[in-house]
Amino acid sequence: MRIRGQAFRTIFVADDGWTVRVIDQTRLPFELEFQELRSAEQAAVAIQDMVVRGAPLIGITAAYGVALGLRSDPGDANLARVLALLGATRPTAVNLRWALARMEQALRAVTPAARMERAYAEAALMADEDAATCEAIGRHGLPLLERLALQKGRRRLNVLTHCNAGWLACVDWGTALAPVYKAHDAGMDLHVWVDETRPRNQGAALTAFELGAHGVAHTVIADNAGGHLMQRGAVDVCIVGTDRTTATGDVANKIGTYLKALAAYDNGVPFYVALPSSTLDWTLQDGVRDIPIEERAAREITHVAGRAPDGTRVAVEVVAPGSPAANPAFDVTPARLVTGLITERGVCEASAAGLRSLFPEAPGAAT
Ligand code: MRU
Repeated sequence: MRIRGQAFRTIFVADDGWTVRVIDQTRLPFELEFQELRSAEQAAVAIQDMVVRGAPLIGITAAYGVALGLRSDPGDANLARVLALLGATRPTAVNLRWALARMEQALRAVTPAARMERAYAEAALMADEDAATCEAIGRHGLPLLERLALQKGRRRLNVLTHCNAGWLACVDWGTALAPVYKAHDAGMDLHVWVDETRPRNQGAALTAFELGAHGVAHTVIADNAGGHLMQRGAVDVCIVGTDRTTATGDVANKIGTYLKALAAYDNGVPFYVALPSSTLDWTLQDGVRDIPIEERAAREITHVAGRAPDGTRVAVEVVAPGSPAANPAFDVTPARLVTGLITERGVCEASAAGLRSLFPEAPGAAT
């Protein structure tokens, strides 16, 4: 996607042929800076500290992290160490586990001497596939938006999204925002309500930034405003991303998503979830019971990061000193509240049968 006319991906290999460069998302929206990753340890810290975030991008960063980690020692023991190190970074996004399993399979099939080259090639392939997959999600989501616009008599279509599931969460295009970009590029009159997404404010900082950079009309709202806007008929459709979706269509996404789904259900607003198949966890049936929810540091609640009037970055305290804070980072929206899943293979019902119809080959898919 483009920032001020220039095409970017969130992650790529630098001109030296081995250093991995990522957009430093902790600096956005005020500064566009890159961070260089030169070891598996640095890749792990970048994932943990949310220099990179978003389920698809976490997976691709981990894949490159494996390649970086094998540079000094491509042997079996070090491969296992690097996989464990990266696998422990964040618990909810299943793309991490998916990416590491795919890397492990590719690398165990070759001799240690061939591993580093193979690792870079596999990671690059996965990055290209992620971009193509997200583009396909956009293609499949576009007709949904066109239909809704038609029902509205072609008046401006209002989309609500939560967190950041745009291209900054992926390699390119995004998941929830891919249909939005496709619709905008096709000339549709649309506007996006952007939930600020406390505590890390991925909506206010990242979604608003990337929509603005692409020229998409949008308005940032407090997380709690969505229900009110839906009651007033100001939201035509919700589209969100997901960090893990079960074989039965339950969806884990950034904390607050469930409340938006409840409000959408109560107001008859369609609620879609966009995802690449790498976000599907075919081993789980009950998302509320089984999806591990990351508990992040209390400081993300007690402090808000931003820019001071003199341009410096600051974190200000917003909670009564001494009050404890809890920070579950994700919640689970049951499939019954989801109108449909938008995947790279098309749109399906959020159910075992719906997913099975698009992915009949999936191992152990629920029936
Ligand atoms: O904690 P994050 O920023 O890594 O969370 C990921 C997200 O941005 C969302 O939950 C997103 O909507 C799904 S990932 C495309």
